[in-house]
Amino acid sequence: MTLAADLRARLERWAAAGLRRQLRPLAGVGPVVTDGSGAPLLNFSSNDYLGLAGDPRLLPASEVPAGAAASRLVTGHLHHHARLEDSLAQHFQRPALVFSSGYAASVGALPALVGPGDAIFSDRLNHASLIDGARLSRAQVHIYPHGDVAALETLLRHSRGTGRAILVSDTLFSMDGDVAPVRDLARLAQRFEAWLYLDEAHALGVLGPEGRGVSAAAGTTPDVLLGTLGKAFGAAGAFVAGVPELREWLLQRARSFVFSTALSPLVADAARRGLAIARDEPWRRDRVLRHAHRLRQELRALGFHVPQGSGPIVPVLLGANGDAVAAAQRLATRGILAVPIRPPTVPEGSARIRLTPMATHTDAHLDQLVAAFREAF
Ligand SMILES: Cc1ncc(COP(=O)(O)O)c(C=O)c1O
Repeated sequence: MTLAADLRARLERWAAAGLRRQLRPLAGVGPVVTDGSGAPLLNFSSNDYLGLAGDPRLLPASEVPAGAAASRLVTGHLHHHARLEDSLAQHFQRPALVFSSGYAASVGALPALVGPGDAIFSDRLNHASLIDGARLSRAQVHIYPHGDVAALETLLRHSRGTGRAILVSDTLFSMDGDVAPVRDLARLAQRFEAWLYLDEAHALGVLGPEGRGVSAAAGTTPDVLLGTLGKAFGAAGAFVAGVPELREWLLQRARSFVFSTALSPLVADAARRGLAIARDEPWRRDRVLRHAHRLRQELRALGFHVPQGSGPIVPVLLGANGDAVAAAQRLATRGILAVPIRPPTVPEGSARIRLTPMATHTDAHLDQLVAAFREAF
């Protein structure tokens, strides 16, 4: 069979299962975007929680080069990266190493930290980048039920082993909007002599004191803190922060750092500006959290299944893939961009609309969203 014929058959099966997705070009970012037809849509599906991605203050000066032209360890480490890492280190009070994305950071960091003979304990709903990093490490991976501290404790008791051990978790879960029990994770890590690796991709900028995340709010200092720069901070890229030795080791050994072109200096500058604005304009996190709280309450009052959560992510559980796709289509005809989320992003049978308000949405935008849910179902 030719490659094309083989892939056509696979794509047909993928589509028959309700899983085929499409790329649709949008004009711009922000609370209101337009699609190919030119019709405005209220955007409730981005990770631009603070509304910074389109903020002109993130645009760097014209003399900044677009490309870094090499990996960081060759000639790609520019002042722009150094300044961004200084800002991150100051804000998060520990040295930070910037990667080109959050995905790259975890698939690089986990295999650099643990390997064969070691053990990883991972929440069942962890992000794909953590799952893939764990697999690449070739450490023994133990998966515990989502947020279940008692089950994790039992697992640690039986399977900690004698090698290195690391507990890995998202803090604000990206598709469920709930928060990991980080204090309990820290307690177990200490008791079982394991390291704690927390992925704060969706929490930084929004939750915790000065937006420093769930771990800062809990008074916990993870051994490895992963943050992304393409969500609340409005740019792209990611960082890993921890003790100075962590930064130095990852710089030497994380393959996605060593063997990859450095983040664009344009983007590094944008991320640094986004970080500063997020810190200096607390109204943004207050407002996005107020919007999310309102959505949870009003959608529940309409009878929708909206799980518990306290951050900016508001999932509306629908179940079947087809139901989520149909819901998104009905919302789109009412001017709402709300993308259906299906497996493999979420477990089978838990397709959903994941709503993410932004600080820059108005109350009238939320009125329109709630009215669309009222009318569309
Ligand atoms: C929890 C979590 N970690 C990591 C990532 C990956 O970050 P990036 O988009 O920068 O690759 C994501 C992103 O989508 C995420 O949701």
